[in-house]
Amino acid sequence: MNIWEDRKAVEQYKREADVAIPDRREILSIISRLATDDAPESPMIADLGGGFGDLTAAILEHRPMANVELIDLSKEMMRLSRSRFKGDPRVRMEVHDLNLGLPDAWDDGSFDSIASCQVLHYIEPENRVRLYKDIWSKLKDGAMFINGDLFKCDSPAIDRWEFDDRIRWLMPRMRSDAGEGMTFEELKASRLEFRKRMGEKPGTVWQLNEDLRRAGFRHVDLLWKKQCFAILAAIK
Ligand SMILES: C[S@@+](CC[C@H](N)C(=O)[O-])C[C@H]1O[C@@H](n2cnc3c(N)ncnc32)[C@H](O)[C@@H]1O
Repeated sequence: MNIWEDRKAVEQYKREADVAIPDRREILSIISRLATDDAPESPMIADLGGGFGDLTAAILEHRPMANVELIDLSKEMMRLSRSRFKGDPRVRMEVHDLNLGLPDAWDDGSFDSIASCQVLHYIEPENRVRLYKDIWSKLKDGAMFINGDLFKCDSPAIDRWEFDDRIRWLMPRMRSDAGEGMTFEELKASRLEFRKRMGEKPGTVWQLNEDLRRAGFRHVDLLWKKQCFAILAAIK
């Protein structure tokens, strides 16, 4: 079963996201501002793997006239989103597997921006360039794809150091149900198990840069990075 159909796993992510992801509200704000600041007044925007809708909500806060297509593989996540945006004509929601690329029903060249937050490291690496090519096709000329995601370091030694450093950062932040009272080694083992259970397959920011250029993007920039989290933006 897809782990994101498990109500407990979704609840855990919902409870922990703002605690375990550094500056998550800033990440959502940067992505939504990038997606809207240069867009027309009533832009068409896609939120890939939108989950329970935090990025879509941030986009609509920055640009109340935006229309958002929110897609996600998980029916459980979609249930939360449907109840959150019930009756809001600006948000269209659809269950969709990004491993298959983007929905065929979306017209080429129809999006003012496409954004995603903490999702694409779940996509099978062999499917990523195809997905980026689809994203490129669905964007208008000169429009932007923004990906805030989890990344690994290129060097295994630096990656191990960064993971340990993240555990040290996390220790005082976790609440009792999620790790308070655990030793460093216990918390590390629990986070490693969580990563495995969730099926995380992060690549490096350098790989993403290469893949986006292979997919046709003209410019790729790294906008923000903290620990293993980063935001990259690419222009068609
Ligand atoms: C960590 S959550 C992030 C949710 C949301 N973007 C946020 O920032 O709060 C990861 C999301 O990716 C979705 N996801 C994972 N694999 C997917 C796939 N193959 N296609 C579409 N969505 C997927 C999950 O269902 C989940 O909602």
